[in-house]
Formats: sequence, structure tokens, C-alpha cells
Amino acid sequence: MEIRPRCKIGIAELDSEMDGGIPIGSTVLITGSSGVGKTTTCMQFLTNGIKLGEKGVFFTTTVTISKLVRHLKGYDFFDENLIKSGKLSIIDLWTISDRLGLTTERYTAEDINVLFEVIRDITKELDAKRLVVDSITSLCYRLQTKETIRDFIFRLTMSLAAIRCTTILTSEVPPRVFRYSQHGIEEFVADGIIFLGDIERRGDLIRTFQLIKMRGTAHSRTKFAMSLSSKRGVELAPMFKSNI
Ligand SMILES: Nc1ncnc2c1ncn2[C@@H]1O[C@H](COP(=O)(O)OP(=O)(O)OP(=O)(O)O)[C@@H](O)[C@H]1O
Ligand SMILES: [Mg+2]
Repeated sequence: MEIRPRCKIGIAELDSEMDGGIPIGSTVLITGSSGVGKTTTCMQFLTNGIKLGEKGVFFTTTVTISKLVRHLKGYDFFDENLIKSGKLSIIDLWTISDRLGLTTERYTAEDINVLFEVIRDITKELDAKRLVVDSITSLCYRLQTKETIRDFIFRLTMSLAAIRCTTILTSEVPPRVFRYSQHGIEEFVADGIIFLGDIERRGDLIRTFQLIKMRGTAHSRTKFAMSLSSKRGVELAPMFKSNI
């Protein structure tokens, strides 16, 4: 059996679930409601990659770069020097749209093609091996039809796979529902799905983390309790112990 080369996420429990990491060149959807830890998980994926010598690109479509950096500064795994040294590039939708002369409210199929080419070219030029789009939901809101959404995500995933770039797209869903995306399309185009949820226990909200699908590898679908801390970022512990 041939095992495809892996992109190590850097969260030990998760990498060991999948023979060492995400198959290189895959596109993975991290989905969950507000505050479950999508952005933090994505940024840790990029900073862990930098430790392995892989450059990362973070494309923010929901908050400005300065706001994002301000939030991330609270974590030990994040260091602003990664940006200054060019190992981590953060780009935002408003700057790119402005440069391309696009309005940010609605995109035509032509607009989205231009945007798609820019994301791909930046990733290629920087020779980045990891890309995050946070969030794909907010880009999809600006597209007019389901066909345009499907076509955009499909083209993005294909061309990033061709340059062996592993991509994470974040997907926003309402709280306490087991749904993977707003449009019901994103999860079918993506190679993998990670679902971040929360469970209420004795007046507390416990974060959960579950790998739902990952094409090209065997993996368990164990539900983990997820914690976020300034010192260690994302940490996972199995929710239920099997007695077998
Ligand atoms: N320095 C920190 N140490 C520990 N936990 C933190 C720290 N900073 C933020 N958090 C936690 O992380 C949560 C936000 O996580 P994050 O931004 O990754 O979620 P998200 O799923 O991306 O949310 P959104 O949908 O709003 O973008 C905060 O609500 C807080 O509980
Ligand atoms: Mg976020």
C-alpha cells in the first residue's frame, strides 16, 4: 500500500490519527460556529509548518490584518517576526480587492476568477506550502450562485493541489447544529472536514474537535475535547475512553 506524503499539522493527537498528517495538497474545511477556535487552529497549522521550513499564507476575509495580529499576540506560538521575515504572509480581502478594482460586496464569476488567480499566484510566488482562507463562507456570500461557489472552490483546490500546497478553508455555521457549511457545497469539494463544536456541561461550554473526513487516508473519527491556552494553543484529549 502506498502512503501519500503528509503535511504535519503539529497537533500530535491529530497527526497520529492520519498516519502523520494531512495528505499533501489536500484542501480541508475547518467548520464550526463563532468562537470555537477556527482561526487559532489555522494559525497554529501555519506556524507549525514554518518550524518545518514551510512558508505559509493566511488570507483573511473577515477581520483586518491589524485586528487579527492583535488577537494572535496573546498566544506564545505566534511571533510577529514570522511576518517580518517573510515566512508568514497575511493578506486581506480589502487590500486585494482595492488593488484589483473590485467592489467587496458582490463578485461576478469574472471577479472571482481574478481573485482566484491572485491567491494562487501569491502562493506560488512565495513558494508557500500551506495556505489558509479564513473564511470561505464570507467569500461565498459575495458570489451569486451555487454553481459559481462550486466552480471557485473546485478550481482553487485543484490548482493548489498542483503546486503541492495544503489548504485550510474555514466555514462558519450557526451554533449547536451539526452542519458543515452555509451552502452545503463546500464540504463536497473539500478533501477533508474537521468539525469544531461545543457541548454545554454544568454551565460551561466545552470545545470539541472531530475529524469527519480525510480523503486518501485511514483515520479515526474520535471526538476530542479541545482546549485553547496562551502557552500551548490548541490541545486535544479524547472525550470518551473505549473499554475494548
Ligand atoms: N490568548 C488566549 N489564550 C487562550 N484562549 C484564547 C486566547 N485568545 C483567545 N482565546 C479564546 O479563543 C476564542 C476565539 O478563538 P478563534 O478566534 O480561533 O475562534 P473562531 O472560531 O475563529 O471564531 P470566529 O467565528 O468568531 O472567527 C476566544 O473566544 C477565547 O475563548
Ligand atoms: Mg475566526
